[in-house]
Amino acid sequence: MELGNQILDILNDCESYFKQLKETERNQILIDFPAVSEQQQFEEIQVPNTQTNLQIEMPEKPSQSSVISDLSKYSTLSEFDNAINQCTKCVLCESRNKFVFGAGNPNADLMLVGEAPGADEDKNGVPFVGRSGKLLDKILAAIDISREDVFIANILKCRPPENRDPLASEVDKCEPYLKRQIELINPKVILALGRIAGQTLLRTKDSLTKLRQKEHNYHGKILMVTYHPAALLRNPNWKRPTWEDVQKVKKIYEGLK
Ligand code: URA
Ligand code: URA
Repeated sequence: MELGNQILDILNDCESYFKQLKETERNQILIDFPAVSEQQQFEEIQVPNTQTNLQIEMPEKPSQSSVISDLSKYSTLSEFDNAINQCTKCVLCESRNKFVFGAGNPNADLMLVGEAPGADEDKNGVPFVGRSGKLLDKILAAIDISREDVFIANILKCRPPENRDPLASEVDKCEPYLKRQIELINPKVILALGRIAGQTLLRTKDSLTKLRQKEHNYHGKILMVTYHPAALLRNPNWKRPTWEDVQKVKKIYEGLK
């Protein structure tokens, strides 16, 4: 497509997004457009190979967020789930099929935290039910733990389109739900699944290799980080180090029991 046409498309997109914004009074919009390098600017662009997110933040509408702002008033997980599963704090609510609150033992000593629901989870409303979930069950079985013993949740409760990484603005809005879940469950150990989950919870850019090396503190709880089951499906060589990580988790978990 010619650059001129492409710019026209972007402007048209902007116009319709702004119209939509005005109609829905939403506080955030997202515009995806192909990144254009300086060199490319004067050439014909065939297929864009990178995407840039231009995110425009609008001031928070107080009335919308106040509905579910005092999370401490919910004293059971099911009450909390009912209160938040119609959440519209971020744009992901528009594309979700199901809100994925989390599932498992409300008194679990071990809590697992993934990144965000994928397609299977979005369809079923349950975390880790796809291929990664099947592998996660096997990883837990290796330390004699079943899915019913633990509580499994994600940082984001709604699926990002195309399974893209969570945006900072989405994490800001959704992480308070996870924190309240942790307060209610009061686990002895939290295991973050994957680099993105670890980096996001710990507010760091440290590599997964580094994050795996020690016990961290997340709001007063011991937090460990290991590979994401989906990463193990791509690279089975990581199964061994994952097995070692969960052995450590088991030791901490049993030592504290
Ligand atoms: N990946 C995640 O991080 N969470 C899920 O629930 C499923 C896949
Ligand atoms: N890369 C990831 O995103 N997660 C892993 O667990 C390993 C590599």
